[in-house]
Amino acid sequence: MGRFVVFEGGEGSGKSTQAALLARRWGAELTFEPGDSEVGARLRSILLDPATGHLDPRAEALLMAADRAHHVATRIRPALNRGRDVVCDRYVGSSIAYQGYGRELGADAVGALSAFATDGLVPDLVVLLHVEPEVAASRLAAAGAPDRLEAAGDEFHRRVASGFLHQAAEDQERWVVVDGDGSVDEVAERATAVVNARLPDPVAGP
Ligand code: TYD
Repeated sequence: MGRFVVFEGGEGSGKSTQAALLARRWGAELTFEPGDSEVGARLRSILLDPATGHLDPRAEALLMAADRAHHVATRIRPALNRGRDVVCDRYVGSSIAYQGYGRELGADAVGALSAFATDGLVPDLVVLLHVEPEVAASRLAAAGAPDRLEAAGDEFHRRVASGFLHQAAEDQERWVVVDGDGSVDEVAERATAVVNARLPDPVAGP
């Protein structure tokens, strides 16, 4: 089995950049949720296009879970089974933070839905990139028109941020919080240090 690492964080946390850097360093498969499959791309456009308008929170959670189920079954698990390392940009932690805390569906309900979707596949390590709301806001302002979830409001995003920190505090064996403030190189140095400490490179065979 390959190693499975997930990057999590709120909007503007820089996790996509850091996930890509780790994947390059490891020669790992880089993937993301929602949307990194043909079916997923269609679900993603429903989920993120502002033109979708209001989506019932349970429907939103179920569509995220549908994307995840298909993604795990068709991409992540097969890659891990081939011995490939996989780096994923967002996973179960995002559903618990955004739908569980942000949409207030509850961490337990959303966690149960994700456990069904993934058939129990949990990452070896979750790196949470944490940035203060002001830093995230200034990065986002530079990023263009907000998608449906980015546009969900400050209160929503505060709940999301606290949802991420709660999960990290509750599962310190699997989660590690990295300060996402600073340049790409500075954050990469911090992320590399924690990944190396938690998941040392496999010892080369004889
Ligand atoms: P994306 O463009 O991939 O954003 P980012 O660069 O911030 O990762 O958009 C993904 C959006 O979907 C983001 O707002 C978080 C949200 N999301 C959920 O609400 N629940 C989930 O389970 C996942 C995977 C993502």
